Amino acid sequence: MVGIFVVTLLFFLPPKFPCLSQDDSSHGLSYSGGKIMTQPATVSLLWFGPQWRESDKAIIRNAINSLTSSSYSSVQKYEVPTLGNWWDIVRQYRDKSNSPVTDILSVGPECSYTGFYQNMTREWVIEIGRAVFDGAAVDRSNGSLSCTHAFEASENGIYLALFSDDVIFVDGNDQDELTVPCSGHLLVNISAEEVITIAWTRAPRTEDDQCSLLLKGSSYRGPPNGNEKVDSLVGYVLAKIADQVTNADGRGWISSDGNGNTNTIGCLCASQNEGKMHPPFYIDAERNVSFNAVGLNGQRYLLQYLWDQNIRNCALKPTEACRVDTVILKQFKGYLSTGIAVNHSDGLQPYMPNQKCLWEIWWPNAKFISFNVEYFAVALDSNDSLRVCPPHSSKMQCKEFNSQNANSFKNFQLMGPKASIQFISGDYVSFDSRGWELSYTAGLCTGKEDVYNSPGIIGYGLVGTSSYVQGINCRWVLHGKPGTRVSFNFTHINVSRDLDFIAIFSDSTHQIANFSGFYPVADLPHINLIGEVIIAFTTQTEGGEGWSAEYYISSPAEPGKRSLVLVIVIILVALALSLSVAIVALFLHKRKQKHANEDLLLNANRFIREENWIGEGPSAVVYKAVLMERCLLAIKVFKNLACYSELGEEILLKTSSHPYIISLMECTRYRFQNRFMVFEFMSRGCLSYNLRERGETIDWEKRLMIAMQISSAIQMLHMYMNPPVCHGNITSDNILLDEFCNAKLSGFSSAKYFDGSDDEELVVMTEDVRSFGLLMLELLRGEPLENRNLRSCEVINELVDGQDGLDGRLGIPPENSKMRALAKFGEIAKWCINTSSDVEGDENNPNIGDILSGLQQVKKLFHTVSSSEADKS
Ligand SMILES: *[C@@H]1O[C@H](CO)[C@@H](O)[C@H](O)[C@H]1NC(C)=O
Ligand SMILES: *[C@@H]1O[C@H](CO)[C@@H](O)[C@H](O)[C@H]1NC(C)=O
Ligand SMILES: *[C@@H]1O[C@H](CO)[C@@H](O)[C@H](O)[C@H]1NC(C)=O
Ligand SMILES: *[C@@H]1O[C@H](CO)[C@@H](O)[C@H](O)[C@H]1NC(C)=O
Ligand SMILES: *[C@@H]1O[C@H](CO)[C@@H](O)[C@H](O)[C@H]1NC(C)=O
Ligand SMILES: *[C@@H]1O[C@H](CO)[C@@H](O)[C@H](O)[C@H]1NC(C)=O
Ligand SMILES: *[C@@H]1O[C@H](CO)[C@@H](O)[C@H](O)[C@H]1NC(C)=O
Ligand SMILES: *[C@@H]1O[C@H](CO)[C@@H](O)[C@H](O)[C@H]1NC(C)=O
Ligand SMILES: *[C@@H]1O[C@H](CO)[C@@H](O)[C@H](O)[C@H]1NC(C)=O
Repeated sequence: MVGIFVVTLLFFLPPKFPCLSQDDSSHGLSYSGGKIMTQPATVSLLWFGPQWRESDKAIIRNAINSLTSSSYSSVQKYEVPTLGNWWDIVRQYRDKSNSPVTDILSVGPECSYTGFYQNMTREWVIEIGRAVFDGAAVDRSNGSLSCTHAFEASENGIYLALFSDDVIFVDGNDQDELTVPCSGHLLVNISAEEVITIAWTRAPRTEDDQCSLLLKGSSYRGPPNGNEKVDSLVGYVLAKIADQVTNADGRGWISSDGNGNTNTIGCLCASQNEGKMHPPFYIDAERNVSFNAVGLNGQRYLLQYLWDQNIRNCALKPTEACRVDTVILKQFKGYLSTGIAVNHSDGLQPYMPNQKCLWEIWWPNAKFISFNVEYFAVALDSNDSLRVCPPHSSKMQCKEFNSQNANSFKNFQLMGPKASIQFISGDYVSFDSRGWELSYTAGLCTGKEDVYNSPGIIGYGLVGTSSYVQGINCRWVLHGKPGTRVSFNFTHINVSRDLDFIAIFSDSTHQIANFSGFYPVADLPHINLIGEVIIAFTTQTEGGEGWSAEYYISSPAEPGKRSLVLVIVIILVALALSLSVAIVALFLHKRKQKHANEDLLLNANRFIREENWIGEGPSAVVYKAVLMERCLLAIKVFKNLACYSELGEEILLKTSSHPYIISLMECTRYRFQNRFMVFEFMSRGCLSYNLRERGETIDWEKRLMIAMQISSAIQMLHMYMNPPVCHGNITSDNILLDEFCNAKLSGFSSAKYFDGSDDEELVVMTEDVRSFGLLMLELLRGEPLENRNLRSCEVINELVDGQDGLDGRLGIPPENSKMRALAKFGEIAKWCINTSSDVEGDENNPNIGDILSGLQQVKKLFHTVSSSEADKS
């Protein structure tokens, strides 16, 4: 009988993890001068236990063969870490001559032990460990041990015993030492001179087994190869191999915590998955399973994180440092990130410390660039920050993300074709800081564009790319003189059929065509029209390339001399009004040839005179002006700069394309000390004035229409803006009417974004709805309410119910159905006013969408039912 010898056991006793956790050590890994495998290494496998299936073995063999990075053909390019990438981290570890560990690993001889396994002893394991090196011993084993051929003792040999989950040791100590840790090693003297290290790993027994910890976390969907035991084991097998090449003799790369516990590169990160932090996984969508790395033959694996010296953190793939120079991005849309992104929703491993990364986006035709923060994972105590800025801007104009405000906003836009992005990381990056990803899209139009130059090309998007985004609402106005020809030939149309449209209007209202889908060259429309032509492009999808058209305006109107009586309101904030006149005059002089709108603005000052006064509010005075024959202007001068809201202006810029929100034509924020805003003119002035002074001319039907138009505007703010916007001051003074009584919402100085987290802002949203209810009441009664704070139900009922509450000047509609419609209108108003501002949340609180659909029913009642009544009578 061959003697049984246990020379040393080099593993750590429980509790639980043999390795230290992240926080309780400085991880002082250092090289102790021993042997490191720098030559091609062979991994010999000893399958221990009868339960190994051939398919399980194949998974592990493939993983080991995948470590050789050169075995990946260059054609296969994975975005996710490969096992070869993972091995590149191991190759950071070098010996005293500065040679890295080998890049070539292969599976060597294999043996299977299938003898008894439920009364195992440590001695017997060592016995078998010795037997596999001795062909004669294998023959003598009566078939319980079989080998492809005997293991060979070699400098570059790695010997690995894999215990299946049903191996049981009879002795309690052996059981603790060999089945509680997930891996360890035994020293076996195979001859008088030679002692071999046999590393071992074990398959987890149950789901709660510490060796299946990697298979946890909210994003875990299942084992990549269908067997949790084997998929968990692979991670330990590979980590053990990393240990063996860097520290085969206990004097290689090793760290000590000073309490006699030592760590190797493979086990420093083993506890990373314990407890709070489960790094995300990739999802194999086809099979609905998780993985974090890919090997040869596309096989997917769950790997342990390794200690990466460059980032002083745990990693699956070497982290790339930022380029020294600015990365220029010349794409229409794309992604920017640090770290390794998982499915644009999370980051896999920490980024580099001490980085300053710079990008610049430049899309020459863009009017704006919109950004979306896909995720931003920076540990709470970190100072790392991401800043997105307009070019040549001050810090004030930038959007900054850091650990404090990471979730406060996700979408934003910067005007202009360029943006610069900077990310800075500090000395220490914790494992929680797993990077960020930002997506961007260049926007090619903002609202409305006036076209006077001819001939030319208009369009949106590019051939050959999916190059527009959803939510576009752009208009081009081709200004031909009245009665003259405007023609255009489409050169390309490919937009999502029946979802995205290119509509053509003549004389601003009359729609003549509406194109959608793909048009072959032969079918591309050629159109000849007269006068002013509007092309509107609206999208709900991202599914097309876009369109383009060549146009010709036979007799372009002069800018400013609009064929329509377009009247403009200018709002001007004057810091020092008298001074500004001089400044403006100077600009006027210098910029004579500039765009028409600018001329309008520059001339504005001469209209700020008493004879042009048209109104005054608490914060501003409005002046009217007649410019260039038929153009009217009105200039609003703020009495106090504090009344001007930059945020309000920004919001207005984004929403102004909505038909029932006042159109902001121009702003001159950066041009003067004073701030100008040019609006479309609303000839009837504000609703309150109209109701008070001219009540009789606004009949019930128009009032209903006004309510619907304004609720549609509020719906735009509350539901379609991202982040949503609260208007904050919905009153009849802030609703303007055009000559046909179309209503538009204005007065955005209290408007702000609603970030979804602040209860106070939720109250403001509810306040918008409440204010709208009061407005509806005002429409019914024809006079403004004295007490806007009314909350009492009785009072509201009194105001709403019965015919007494209705505007006396209009008379009661004769049709029963119209009366019912007005009663329902009153009910909706009540519903809004009774809205509880207690956020805890009356679920009955209506949102503006509910109100709008209620009003649509009122409208139906007002029209269809009354006609059937007419039939009856
Ligand atoms: C374990 O049990 C088997 C039979 O069940 C026996 O042949 C074998 O010798 C035992 N081994 C040890 C190490 O006790
Ligand atoms: C194999 O069987 C022979 C006799 O049949 C026995 O003497 C020997 O000990 C057995 N070897 C092992 C390793 O069990
Ligand atoms: C292994 O070492 C022990 C003493 O530690 C010795 O008795 C035994 O003969 C050695 N085995 C071989 C195969 O050299
Ligand atoms: C994927 O697996 C998860 C849990 O393992 C399950 O909740 C989910 O429904 C599955 N998804 C699909 C598409 O099968
Ligand atoms: C990416 O994440 C989203 C949301 O979590 C999920 O719906 C989608 O299926 C994921 N895609 C892939 C390829 O895993
Ligand atoms: C963040 O900055 C503060 C102040 O400069 C400093 O005290 C702290 O150590 C920094 N934190 C990190 C994680 O670098
Ligand atoms: C239209 O554009 C889409 C999106 O880019 C593209 O997939 C499709 O092939 C295009 N259709 C034709 C007929 O070119
Ligand atoms: C174009 O027509 C479709 C239905 O044919 C309609 O849904 C869409 O609103 C129209 N677009 C415009 C801008 O009128
Ligand atoms: C449109 O095409 C027609 C015929 O090919 C051509 O005569 C006309 O000049 C084109 N118009 C424009 C605006 O390019």
